[in-house]
Amino acid sequence: MKYSLKPKYHFFPITGWLNDPNGLIYYKNKYHMFYQFNPSNPEWGAMHWGHAISDDLFKWKHLPVALYPEKTFDDNDISGIFSGSAIEKDGNLFLMYTQFFDPKCYENHEKEQQCIAFSSNGIDFEKYSKNPVISTPPTKLFHDFRDPKVWWGEDSKYYCVLGSGEENIGKVLLYSSEDLKKWEFENTLIKMDPEEFEPIIECPDFFKLGNKWVLIFSAGFLTEGARKNYYVTGNFEKNKFFPEYYGELDLGNDIYASQTFLDEKGRRILIGWVHTPERYNYTKEEGWAGIMSIPRKLSINNGLLIQEPVEEINNFIENIEKPEIKNDTFSIKELENCFMLEIDNSNEKFEISLENSKDKIIFSISSRDLEITEIRNKKKEYRDFYHLESEIKNLRIFFDKSSFEVFINSGETVCTWRIYPHDNYSKLNFKDLPPEAIKIRKINNSLFD
Ligand code: FRU
Repeated sequence: MKYSLKPKYHFFPITGWLNDPNGLIYYKNKYHMFYQFNPSNPEWGAMHWGHAISDDLFKWKHLPVALYPEKTFDDNDISGIFSGSAIEKDGNLFLMYTQFFDPKCYENHEKEQQCIAFSSNGIDFEKYSKNPVISTPPTKLFHDFRDPKVWWGEDSKYYCVLGSGEENIGKVLLYSSEDLKKWEFENTLIKMDPEEFEPIIECPDFFKLGNKWVLIFSAGFLTEGARKNYYVTGNFEKNKFFPEYYGELDLGNDIYASQTFLDEKGRRILIGWVHTPERYNYTKEEGWAGIMSIPRKLSINNGLLIQEPVEEINNFIENIEKPEIKNDTFSIKELENCFMLEIDNSNEKFEISLENSKDKIIFSISSRDLEITEIRNKKKEYRDFYHLESEIKNLRIFFDKSSFEVFINSGETVCTWRIYPHDNYSKLNFKDLPPEAIKIRKINNSLFD
């Protein structure tokens, strides 16, 4: 049987295209996830909001599309519902999103306007009849203006942050409102250096964690040509942000547009879109594209953001007896590329690799350095080298068919990749590492109800 790239515990669209997570919220005893969705084919196109619910963040039930694009002129019109967020108000579920108007069809129209929709059952949504609620950016010089992330402030007002670009400078904008319908521009929270970053910030999120404020956003770094998630921790007073520490949310190149929410247990949980822009042809052949990351619980330690898989993941991780070992190799075929490796190590330098007859992934660790190489069809397809802020002491690597997420030093650093093997890996090889330093656990989840 042909190897399937479909994950077993990472949310994906079954059919069609998925990008950013939207409107993450715990509402009426369920986790809700909306997402950028093109149901017609596994390519980006006129955006809808797909919708799913869950009790535990790992078993999901797909619901009908929550928001459809406005009427289209013709098949070339890619106007649609861009990213946004959710909030509960008076028992109703409100969605705040960007209405995107395709400039080639709407020539003299604002390209992006902020709108709301609401629902009393969390399933059927009605767009507000007086949309948009923010019709223009603060000045005419903005070329991008989207992705509202809304929250209820401690001073009993609603706030939202928006991603934007003004005169080729990426900016995060802050707005406030008494009622979600009338919004006022407050301030610019941060500006990017145009020498270093592309001229737009996308998908910002801003929240308090411990006694600090955290700003998360997505942007393109010019010299590396990579589009990544970043975070800044600092202080927020009145309507001004005072940054203290800048970091990369994830070292990998394959995660973007992450969004967070606060759940009923008081956890700040992050989910990101995991995708390889240049290589998604491999899953397109199966009729779908894009997965979500493992939901990660956030905390803060000395200004550093710590990310760990939410504890619900332990419900379906099985402790297995050590598979057979021969010459520093474990046999892992029966794990079917759905497993977790845990490495607690005192050696400064070691290597592990996984392989089948055509493909191989190699993780080489040396003190603070991590190098990852992907060999596909016996050819080197991808390699990246990361220099960490502290020595690598422990790793947890979660594999799920076509991705892995590495949590290093108990979540101080995370690195996410999509991978495209032809078959299950059959061997796990290790060098300079005693077998007792490696724990292998099978993951056994059924993703959809
Ligand atoms: C980020 C993004 C958002 C936008 C959405 C459109 O991936 O470009 O800025 O709202 O995707 O699908």
